[in-house]
Amino acid sequence: MKTLLTGATGLLGQAIWKVFKDEYEIVPVSLSGGKDTIRCDLVQEEEVARLIDKYHPSLVIHTAAITDVDLCEREPAFAHQVNTIATRNLTWYSSQIHSAFIYISTDYVFDGEKRSLYVEEDCPQPVNVYGISKLGGENYVSYFMEEYFIFRTSFLFGRYKQNFVTSCVERLTSGEELVVAHDQIITPTYVDDFAQALKEFLKKVRTLPQRGETVYGIYHLVNQGKCSRYELVVEIARILGIDTDVITGVNLDQISKDAERPLFSALSPHKFQKFTGFIIRDWKEALKEFLSQYAKKG
Ligand SMILES: NC(=O)c1ccc[n+]([C@@H]2O[C@H](COP(=O)([O-])OP(=O)(O)OC[C@H]3O[C@@H](n4cnc5c(N)ncnc54)[C@H](OP(=O)(O)O)[C@@H]3O)[C@@H](O)[C@H]2O)c1
Repeated sequence: MKTLLTGATGLLGQAIWKVFKDEYEIVPVSLSGGKDTIRCDLVQEEEVARLIDKYHPSLVIHTAAITDVDLCEREPAFAHQVNTIATRNLTWYSSQIHSAFIYISTDYVFDGEKRSLYVEEDCPQPVNVYGISKLGGENYVSYFMEEYFIFRTSFLFGRYKQNFVTSCVERLTSGEELVVAHDQIITPTYVDDFAQALKEFLKKVRTLPQRGETVYGIYHLVNQGKCSRYELVVEIARILGIDTDVITGVNLDQISKDAERPLFSALSPHKFQKFTGFIIRDWKEALKEFLSQYAKKG
């Protein structure tokens, strides 16, 4: 199946590319055109029109975004262009050729007021520009596309690009002391697990005799469980055999950031698991496997 993959140089995009490439004909796209990808600025409508016209994909997996939450807060117009308008461009031209569409969204569409895992029926209410711009993207997906899936995920880690987990590993192994929030609860998610689960999902969809409203829509796709940022860093240190005394937990509001964050944004993958029958492992198991490979790589 010809599949246009945006964000193919990104943390998640690279994982999806790797897992999908044997069975899918991937057309990898990025802004820079690096790592053997096709260059396209998705904000530019004519570039998107040309891209869709040239490759005519049956499926679009749209992972591209500006993911720096504080940058989005400082530059809201830029965040709106890349996260919302680029998604409008892609969905509009994809809808003209009746492609299926997968949009990757975020736990930051929620305000964090809930104290149990967020489910798909919960009402989004973003507290920062990043969340607003990603929710804007979700709205275009559901407005223009017929056959669409929105996968919300959270706090990604993996080997392909620097992220919170890899920078903690570097800082801990170089003997730095870390100050992290102990009151922000998230679901760390391993990009390799996400990519594999997404592939299983599409396999399941293909076996259905009929698809319809009940299948299309929003899914939360994360590793199981939840933790605070502090607990995540302690777990990293524990796995690496580093003394956890170097880690200090503080309240999120004691750490200076441009953007507000939801204090609780852990997601439930229950709907996804029920639909696919595919059980996603706990974030601690995923982290352990990731760190054992990452440490070997050096
Ligand atoms: N990272 C997380 O913790 C997290 C959490 C929840 C949800 N998500 C969502 O998951 C998805 C993937 O995140 P990620 O962390 O893998 O992203 P990432 O590593 O920051 O990669 C972003 C990708 O978007 C591309 N891009 C940026 N602006 C573009 C433009 N104007 N036109 C075309 N491509 C553009 C980049 O291309 P270049 O490399 O060429 O610049 C890169 O391939 C995003 O939709 C994000 O909102 C991420």
